Amino acid sequence: MNKNSKIYIAGHRGMVGSAIERLLKSQGYTRIIGRSSKELDLRNQIAVRDFFKEQKPDIVIDAAAKVGGILANETYPYSFLMDNLQMQNNLISSSLEFETNKFIFLGSSCIYPKLAPQPLKEEYLLTGPLETTNEWYAIAKIVGVKAIEAVRKNYGKDYVALMPTNLYGSHDNFDLETSHVLPAMIRKFYEAKVSRNAYNEPVESVELWGSGMPLREFLHVDDLAAAVVFALENTLPDYLYNIGSGRELKISELASLIQDVVGHTGSIRYDSTKPDGTPRKLMDSSKLMSLGWKPKITLEEGLKSTYAWFLENQENYKQVKM
Ligand SMILES: NC(=O)c1ccc[n+]([C@@H]2O[C@H](COP(=O)([O-])OP(=O)(O)OC[C@H]3O[C@@H](n4cnc5c(N)ncnc54)[C@H](OP(=O)(O)O)[C@@H]3O)[C@@H](O)[C@H]2O)c1
Repeated sequence: MNKNSKIYIAGHRGMVGSAIERLLKSQGYTRIIGRSSKELDLRNQIAVRDFFKEQKPDIVIDAAAKVGGILANETYPYSFLMDNLQMQNNLISSSLEFETNKFIFLGSSCIYPKLAPQPLKEEYLLTGPLETTNEWYAIAKIVGVKAIEAVRKNYGKDYVALMPTNLYGSHDNFDLETSHVLPAMIRKFYEAKVSRNAYNEPVESVELWGSGMPLREFLHVDDLAAAVVFALENTLPDYLYNIGSGRELKISELASLIQDVVGHTGSIRYDSTKPDGTPRKLMDSSKLMSLGWKPKITLEEGLKSTYAWFLENQENYKQVKM
């Protein structure tokens, strides 16, 4: 791979895009471009086409999306479906028109059916109904995967779709209205640890959504960035690859790990009236691993560094506006 290739990272300010940019820069890539959503609204087809006409990137990494947890998905179905469709359609069609050689599309494990066998293999796509809590987002991402497959079939281009498991790390979203489970827990445990009631007594109890029983897999975003760079530097033989750590644990076990990292000693109450989401979600990432990519950051190490980032960035951590 030529280190002078012009690489456009769509969503370069996000958790995933910024991790990819950091890694590419550290590996000597010199021509990385990005635009914020204010500078270039990727839902605007004409603006995206004009940008590609002017910049003609050699490589596009699509890490731009409307992203959020269960609450955000249920509250804003239209925007989770349509914003994501519009952004990815505009990026893929302009990349084809202006002859981008390589396109890396980032989706998510929620593209797979709710009750698919576990661990989830790439071939289970479209074999059953989706989890309803995030089907809007999932359907948009499935369309993106099929568009990548169609580009390869029609034009033989090196376009590829990567489906990461649940990600976490620096630049995560810690806004309780829109965040995913892991950063939400970090914030809740931290706030419980430091808060005081009217009598200046510690208020250490924390309430978490759901039963605590669902099984989940987590991957540090820097490991995902390494997978993206691996896909960029190699011609992968297929169009779709899962990216996970291979380690699954109960939400209640994750809560205990985060309590330890944060130093929270109070009780946890699980609110079972709130949805759990899908009962189990573990990716089978052997297809990409067999080609040479492997995750390196353990959950324990990743939680410590993410908590450190949270503490350093509390004043300005992301407040996502829908
Ligand atoms: N987070 C996870 O756990 C996870 C798991 C699996 C897959 N993924 C995938 O990874 C990708 C990135 O996720 P993330 O967690 O990094 O999300 P994020 O931190 O919310 O970042 C999303 C990025 O998308 C950009 N964006 C959103 N709407 C836009 C618009 N209308 N026009 C231009 N840019 C727009 C934002 O730009 P501005 O900052 O400039 O507004 C932001 O940089 C997504 O495709 C997601 O599906 C994430």
